[in-house]
Amino acid sequence: MCGIIGFVGLRQARPILIDGLRRLEYRGYDSAGLATLSEGRLLVHRRVGRVSELASAVPADLAGATGIAHTRWATHGGVTQANAHPHTDSLGRIAVVHNGIVENMAALKARLVAEGAVFRSETDSEVIAHLIAHFYDGFGPLGDSIMPDVAGDPVAAVRTAMARVRGTWGVAVVFADQPDIIVAARNGSPLVVGLGEGETFLASDSHALTPYTRRVVYLQDRELALLSREGVQTFLLDGGEANPTVHELEEEWGDSEKGDFPNFMLKEIHDQPDALRQCLGGRILAEEGTAKLGGLDLSPRRVMEVSRVGFIGCGTAYHACMVGAAAVEQLARVPATAEIASEYRYRNPVIDPRSLHFAVSQSGETADTLGATREIELKGGEIMGIVNVVGSSIARTCGKGVYIHSGPEMAVASTKAFTNMIAAMYLFALQMGRTRALSPSQGREFAEALRAVPDLVERYLKDPGPIDAAVTAVIKAKNVLFLGRGVSAAVAAEGALKLMEVAYVPCIAYPSGEMKHGPIALLEPGSPVIVIAPDDALKDKTLSNLQESRARGAFIVLITSEGDEYSEMGDVNIVVPRTHELLSPLLTVLPLQLLAYQAGLALGRDIDRPRNLAKSVTVE
Ligand code: F6R
Repeated sequence: MCGIIGFVGLRQARPILIDGLRRLEYRGYDSAGLATLSEGRLLVHRRVGRVSELASAVPADLAGATGIAHTRWATHGGVTQANAHPHTDSLGRIAVVHNGIVENMAALKARLVAEGAVFRSETDSEVIAHLIAHFYDGFGPLGDSIMPDVAGDPVAAVRTAMARVRGTWGVAVVFADQPDIIVAARNGSPLVVGLGEGETFLASDSHALTPYTRRVVYLQDRELALLSREGVQTFLLDGGEANPTVHELEEEWGDSEKGDFPNFMLKEIHDQPDALRQCLGGRILAEEGTAKLGGLDLSPRRVMEVSRVGFIGCGTAYHACMVGAAAVEQLARVPATAEIASEYRYRNPVIDPRSLHFAVSQSGETADTLGATREIELKGGEIMGIVNVVGSSIARTCGKGVYIHSGPEMAVASTKAFTNMIAAMYLFALQMGRTRALSPSQGREFAEALRAVPDLVERYLKDPGPIDAAVTAVIKAKNVLFLGRGVSAAVAAEGALKLMEVAYVPCIAYPSGEMKHGPIALLEPGSPVIVIAPDDALKDKTLSNLQESRARGAFIVLITSEGDEYSEMGDVNIVVPRTHELLSPLLTVLPLQLLAYQAGLALGRDIDRPRNLAKSVTVE
């Protein structure tokens, strides 16, 4: 949420800042801004809207070889130019960009205003600029005493200020009278420093740095960094220097260009066959009928000792967790649950030390999932990551885990990460199941079915069936009801989320059996009901709920698997290739992704950047 980019070197900063913002724009896109340093002055430009608006407003020859920039997802204060970052102190000598939230903003602001600070925005972030200026000018915590050790020292001023800020932050700061440095600090909001030849970069997301360098230093929580042309020095917020570790970013981890597709969402839907092959490749041991996930480092003995499994995530990742939990229970006969991270972290969960937890996240930066991870560790539990972005905060916090290898997912609406998260969880469920419950032939049967899925996905996407007819039904609806049972209940939830976020159509999803306990009251003649009923043990029950909906005049969009004799029962019938019943979500979700995409298109929505959303949710 919100993106930060910074540059210090000898060439013009402007193109690097704008290019970096474009790469980070998926993190937030309400407004954008930048500040460069030239001849002892800060040159600040900000615009409401997309990075393209900022790019056209900033002179092409903007001076300055040091600069910071930001793309915003509003938290405190509306979407206005005044609230866009960078923010400056009263005299315009210090500029700050900030990701995160200042929780004690009111108290800090009141004190700074009493001392004469002039605030120009409604944001919490502006407090940081004034607070740093206060210490840089040498004032003490109460505005009275003088702190000669801090006065005029950029690192000391940022350190002293940030030690008084409660909340989360990734900040980058430039000083008008310090033309060749950036000071950065991190607490709960990621920042990574890129090391070039005679130039140094800063970003909230390492992939923004890959055009320039692959040598990076990840800042840790409560660390500061001093960036100069020569490289980076890191410090602890609580005093003393830190030891930066230089990492090599992986070679290109996939294509982040749209290619021939009109937007990223459609491209990423079509990436799924290859993304699944990447995730499954080399991890299925067909002969033994099991899977091997090296990053988990789980011996069969430890697998036998596991008392429960918990999958934890938000949004789409949570829906993937629902499928993962069902797979573990069915294949391994171990109790397994899916948990919403934002609830889990605050409910003082009971953690059995023999249980195993997984933090599931595409970005690896979701604040609530990271918070849940830390809570589990603090309570002595074992947690591993199921993550897409290599080197992300969740991946590094967990230490062990599985990368899902989707490649970059740029559209805000998650598609290929969902199917790859599920695929990774199936692999784990197979590994655990084969150790604890499955015979060699049962293991082989599941492994074979899993290995066949990418080709089935590819086949379906070539001929997806009457999606248009379903689009016509949903785009004029007051609301759309999604129904499914078992793993299809998770698919129903995911389909509803997708249609809401991309097309802004009100949707609800229910396990089919729950429909008559409330949501059935919504049905009127013509109400669209999307029923996910592949051939599984629960299909007859789901079809009864379909009939109950039809009896109230609902318009049924039915999703079934090839060869099902009931495939024509809907008003619109969409058929996906047949697979193992536990694996059906990898196929039944595809028409729902396409439905959301095409409905969004028909309604003129911004497909890749739906309103109010951001790709990486780094605030609570
Ligand atoms: C929906 C969507 C969100 C994310 C959620 C978690 O399409 O993208 O619901 O799934 O914000 O994000 P990650 O997986 O990055 O933790």
